[in-house]
Amino acid sequence: MTTPKKLFIKTYGCQMNVYDSERMSEALGGQGYVETKTPDDADMILLNTCHIREKAAEKVYSELGRLKGLKASNPDLKIGVAGCVAQAEGAEIMRRQPAVDLVVGPQSYHRLPEMEAKTRQGEKALDTDFPEEDKFEKLKSRPKARRAPSAFLTVQEGCDKFCAFCVVPYTRGAEASRPVARILDEARDLVERGVREITLLGQNVNAYHGTGPNGSDYTLAKLIWDLDKVDGLERIRFTTSHPNDMTEDLIEAHGTCSKLMPYLHLPVQSGSDKILKRMNRGHTAESYLRLIERIRGARPDILMSGDFIVGFPEETEVDFQATLDLVAEVNYGYAYSFKYSTRPGTPAAERAQVDAGEADDRLQRLQSLITRQQHSIQDGMVGRTVKVLFEKPGRQAGQMMGKSEYLHAVHVADAQVSVGEIKAVKIVDSLTNSLAGELV
Ligand code: SAH
Ligand code: SF4
Ligand code: F3S
Repeated sequence: MTTPKKLFIKTYGCQMNVYDSERMSEALGGQGYVETKTPDDADMILLNTCHIREKAAEKVYSELGRLKGLKASNPDLKIGVAGCVAQAEGAEIMRRQPAVDLVVGPQSYHRLPEMEAKTRQGEKALDTDFPEEDKFEKLKSRPKARRAPSAFLTVQEGCDKFCAFCVVPYTRGAEASRPVARILDEARDLVERGVREITLLGQNVNAYHGTGPNGSDYTLAKLIWDLDKVDGLERIRFTTSHPNDMTEDLIEAHGTCSKLMPYLHLPVQSGSDKILKRMNRGHTAESYLRLIERIRGARPDILMSGDFIVGFPEETEVDFQATLDLVAEVNYGYAYSFKYSTRPGTPAAERAQVDAGEADDRLQRLQSLITRQQHSIQDGMVGRTVKVLFEKPGRQAGQMMGKSEYLHAVHVADAQVSVGEIKAVKIVDSLTNSLAGELV
């Protein structure tokens, strides 16, 4: 038997990249690779990259600069770049860093085994096509390895919304949904391997419109109801949603589907209608607030999460104030805020930019408001009993860590529970980034 080759994958960016890295590892498993935790002894290094902001994209080149030195001690080492930087920059990556042997865009991962073979012939391999064939169908799973209790499952990919700041429609391509039957097969397979919670992924996951039995049209809500019937699957989540695709049946599911968790990530980006218009978001601050009212009508305890951009071109102090007002009104359990980053090829890149110092100042003010909200919601959990899905042992002996329905990290000391169990836990303390609880 030949000794297996070692694969080191480093993943940047969103949850879809995490999912894709698992698929790539499985695909290369068929070529005799096993994953290793350090680049030092690897035969193949893959960086699965993110292009969303300039910093994320530039990180890749500094990392490549460090990694190329490893080729001196291992001349057989191959270095590959996957993900959204690969899609956006293609062959330019090999020009900027000649140590790179392989560049593969997100829609071509099923071609990775052939590409790897090509690099072993001493050739460079580049594929950033948007092929017609279904890559997921061709990315066959490895046999039945045990899985952690919580898993991602991509159901939709790509985006047709073209927000004026965003590279995703260019790096991931047009919106496409996977067929219902394949998703259900994958979900059942995950459950057999120990998974209790599935997070359905898509850049615009609630625009899901896959084909169901006999060619019928599905919505995300219909898909969730099918998954609800999968025995052994206890929790369903989905991310990321666009406000304009929050259909009535999906809102209703939050009130009636017990496996659907009371947490919703619903980015709005800004509270100013002027800015929302210039961002090409297709909704107003008011319509977003009314939407949240309807969602809370269906599921009063739902925990809201969002994304914000500050310093978008032409954002004034008045516009920014409107964002603070919106945040104050929603009361977020979690929110992620970013300083606007100019992305090549997007419409907003051509416009007058906000002063960087001003943008930094706004980011800080927004983040301090968000942090206060987050903590007050977390503190409000003390005394309540939540259900925790236990995922792993904690740092202290006997301690176990898990997540509540609301996605709060919860740890329990001296917990007589196993990974994968769901137990009622009474929250006794709120710490900086987690809650402490006791089994009930
Ligand atoms: N599909 C999702 C998420 C896209 S990327 C959605 O529609 O919401 C995740 C977040 O990154 C976005 O919600 C946005 O807040 C942020 N983002 C995207 N492009 C950005 C840019 N050019 N500069 C700063 N932040 C950006
Ligand atoms: Fe980007 Fe907008 Fe599409 Fe989200 S909806 S991926 S922010 S273009
Ligand atoms: Fe980044 Fe691509 Fe995800 S740009 S956020 S890795 S879709």
